[in-house]
Amino acid sequence: MDRHIQIKLVERLREADPRLRWSHADRSMANPAGRYVDEDWFRDERQALFRECAQFVGLSVECARPGDYLTRDCGGVPILIVRQPDLSLRAFVNACRHRAAPLLKGDGSQGRRPIVCPYHAWTYGTDGSLLARPHDEGGFDDVADPCGLLVRSVVEAHGLIFVHPLEGATVDAADLLHGAEREFAGYGIESAHLFDRRETVWPINWKLLLDTFLEPYHVRFVHRNSIDRTFLSHQLFDVFGPVARPIGLRRSVLDQLESCRPSDWRLFPHAAAQYVLLPNALLSYQGDHIETWRFEPIDCFSTRVVTSIFSPSEPASEEERAHWQRNFDILLQVAFEEDFPIQKDIQDNLRSGAIGHVHYGRLEPALIHCHGTINAMVEAWRDKRGGEDERR
Ligand code: FES
Ligand SMILES: [Fe+2]
Repeated sequence: MDRHIQIKLVERLREADPRLRWSHADRSMANPAGRYVDEDWFRDERQALFRECAQFVGLSVECARPGDYLTRDCGGVPILIVRQPDLSLRAFVNACRHRAAPLLKGDGSQGRRPIVCPYHAWTYGTDGSLLARPHDEGGFDDVADPCGLLVRSVVEAHGLIFVHPLEGATVDAADLLHGAEREFAGYGIESAHLFDRRETVWPINWKLLLDTFLEPYHVRFVHRNSIDRTFLSHQLFDVFGPVARPIGLRRSVLDQLESCRPSDWRLFPHAAAQYVLLPNALLSYQGDHIETWRFEPIDCFSTRVVTSIFSPSEPASEEERAHWQRNFDILLQVAFEEDFPIQKDIQDNLRSGAIGHVHYGRLEPALIHCHGTINAMVEAWRDKRGGEDERR
């Protein structure tokens, strides 16, 4: 992030009124409880946001060398992303063209090897073309289709990879990031090292999990024995089109207001800048390293969560390794033991049907922005579908 932007953001802290209203929204928002627990809403949301929108699938460094691959669930569409020999990326539906068996699982590397279906060994190049059908005895000679893998659009920009799961759709990274990428300089996204990654499944609606990261109002209560010692319960908040960017603040950020000249003020390392990449992810620059969270809804009430931590470079010593391991352990412990259990309890309450709405206060602008955006996207999709139904 540019030095002048950092100074301007720190300046906002000094201008705060006694209630530290650095980033209040203009008005609060009431969101119907059903947004979290209504299965019809979820079905439309998954279609509108996850199947018909491009989404973040990882950092370039997670799939850096020729033959490296990622597999993802994009709103129920199985996607395979493969790094090509010329270092470009290609994305496919992760399904064999014979009888649709998944070709690869997890993330990994094929190296120079072709992709072989585990079912009957149909063999594909990393470019998706069908190379061979071993032992087929001429049994497909009358199939005119060349049976290459089904292609999907993939784009790589500023060290981030986005895929569109819909056939024929294209990804526009400029549209998705909307200028947020101008802050990425200095974050080291393109040279980061994937230190560790954890995949977990939670019996919780995906938006409740995302909400965990969208306001620090709860920090002084839920995290009183952990990160409250380090972080303030306030945030700076800005938006770049659809991208919400809440900034979590370490207590040390305020010290420099008195101790340094304004020209020496810095946001980092006193802050964590989070970029909410709707619908499914969060990229967080912590001042010295990067974390990403991806949320893959399985159904209305369960979500696959993938948490990754990236060190600035590969640890060069056991001590460095232990340092990043400690960071990762704390990150997971705070989220898994302090944040997510409350979301599960909230979900149970919302499912009771006794609660009409939840309220996002003016001090929770990221919640207001993200849920406002999600609701608008689903409503627009419903209107479009309604129009199409009428024309039929
Ligand atoms: S399903 Fe892949 S070879 Fe048969
Ligand atoms: Fe939290």
